[in-house]
Amino acid sequence: LRTEEDHTPQPRRQQNRQTEDFSEPTRPTTFTNVADTDPNLAHNRAWAREIISRMAGSTLGQDLVTAHRVETSQALDEAISAAISAGKTWQALPIATRSEVLLRIGDQLAAARGRLLEVMGAETGKTIEQGDPEVSEGIDFARYYGQQCLQLDQIAGATPHPVGLTVVTPPWNFPMAIPTGSMTSALAAGSPVIIKPAPQAQRTAAVIVQAIWAALEEYDLPRELVTLLIAEESSLGSQLVSDSRVDRVILTGAYETAQLFTDMRPDMPLYGETSGKNAIVVTPTADLDLAVADVVDSALGHAGQKCSAASILILVGQTAVSKRFHRQLLDAVNSLVVDHPTNPEAQMGPVVEEPGEKLQRGLTTLEPGQRWHLVPKRLDGTGRLFSPGIRSGVRPGSEYHITEYFGPVLGVMSADTLEDAIAYVNAVPYGLTSGIHSLDPDEIATWSEHVAAGNLYINRGITGAIVRRQPFGGWKRSAIGPGSKVGGPNYLLGLTDWTDAPATL
Ligand code: ALA
Repeated sequence: LRTEEDHTPQPRRQQNRQTEDFSEPTRPTTFTNVADTDPNLAHNRAWAREIISRMAGSTLGQDLVTAHRVETSQALDEAISAAISAGKTWQALPIATRSEVLLRIGDQLAAARGRLLEVMGAETGKTIEQGDPEVSEGIDFARYYGQQCLQLDQIAGATPHPVGLTVVTPPWNFPMAIPTGSMTSALAAGSPVIIKPAPQAQRTAAVIVQAIWAALEEYDLPRELVTLLIAEESSLGSQLVSDSRVDRVILTGAYETAQLFTDMRPDMPLYGETSGKNAIVVTPTADLDLAVADVVDSALGHAGQKCSAASILILVGQTAVSKRFHRQLLDAVNSLVVDHPTNPEAQMGPVVEEPGEKLQRGLTTLEPGQRWHLVPKRLDGTGRLFSPGIRSGVRPGSEYHITEYFGPVLGVMSADTLEDAIAYVNAVPYGLTSGIHSLDPDEIATWSEHVAAGNLYINRGITGAIVRRQPFGGWKRSAIGPGSKVGGPNYLLGLTDWTDAPATL
């Protein structure tokens, strides 16, 4: 049985390090994704059940959320000053030490895996099957950026210019991986951090920050270096972003929020991953069994609430194959166990909160030419649990085609040719992820060349980018600001102030 205690790490600074003669003795030289080395939940159902049993009624993180609530303009002002002052201590450290602290943050997050899964399930409805790889991704971010910052040093041959205060405004849909990636990248770039979590995921942010503080404490670093800021008044949010002492914001959220931030501070660097409306194309040459599994997972994993989710399926050619695919897909979706994460059998969980007007439309309203193959149904009195919906007859330019709903609904489009399918993919204003299922190299080459999205996946689901292997970032309205892809080799370079450095790593 895997327990929290089993994961309690030994401080790295007390471990003997392997030395290599071409670099500093403390410098790690390889990066290994945690999922490649740690057993996952599939191997440890008993551990999974133990976490699930703790979800109902869990109050993890609530004490910190209460303690870090900021309600006045003056308190916010003081929090900013304290963060900047803590940043000076951080910036005075050698990069090798900052790197060690980041690796320790990775260890502390690994030690908190069970708590993180518990709080994510309790607070946002995330099942642990979805949460477990997400925790791995967060740990990967801390370790990857912890190693990458050493490379920055190597290139410049000097300490990079310290960067000022970074505000992180993460989303609720990946409440662990995304804030962790944003915070650790900012730290790696030498910046103190203020995190203002999404209202739906404050407790998860608190548990992450607690793990980060545990690592900071080992190095006698002040907690204010990573400040948890619970500020629900929108005027305080505006004050934070507008404060001239804030040097940059890392935002993951709606395109409209990014525009709002830009209006508030046109001069400020904003690193944003924003909105998506992503499609998977399936051609008649596809391996249908694989395609069905990947479409279901991409469309309905985390109840369709991933920015990377497949919201559109485009079937190429009205062939017997596409009809068979459609039938298989309906069977697969129909057989999903939909329930709250407190049910160990749940394969799809609830949406984060009762649907707003937009998602409500996505779950109920058909447009001309559309019909339901599976009608989404409200499954209980919580107002959050819905059976998945599949609608066909989605036409180019329709509301469904271009609107991000963030919920368990998939729209099917038919395209006569692959070229038409690509045109449908590219007609949306966003460009985050995109996928093709095809066994024809020419089809794959044509699609890869012409499709406009940041992350392209071939014969694979379109969610769950892996740190370093699949750096993640959008095109068009799915990205804003100068940032490169997160979890990739150039991201820190983009965050750092490099007036004298080479252009690429
Ligand atoms: N990085 C997340 C994914 O790839 C958004 O699904």
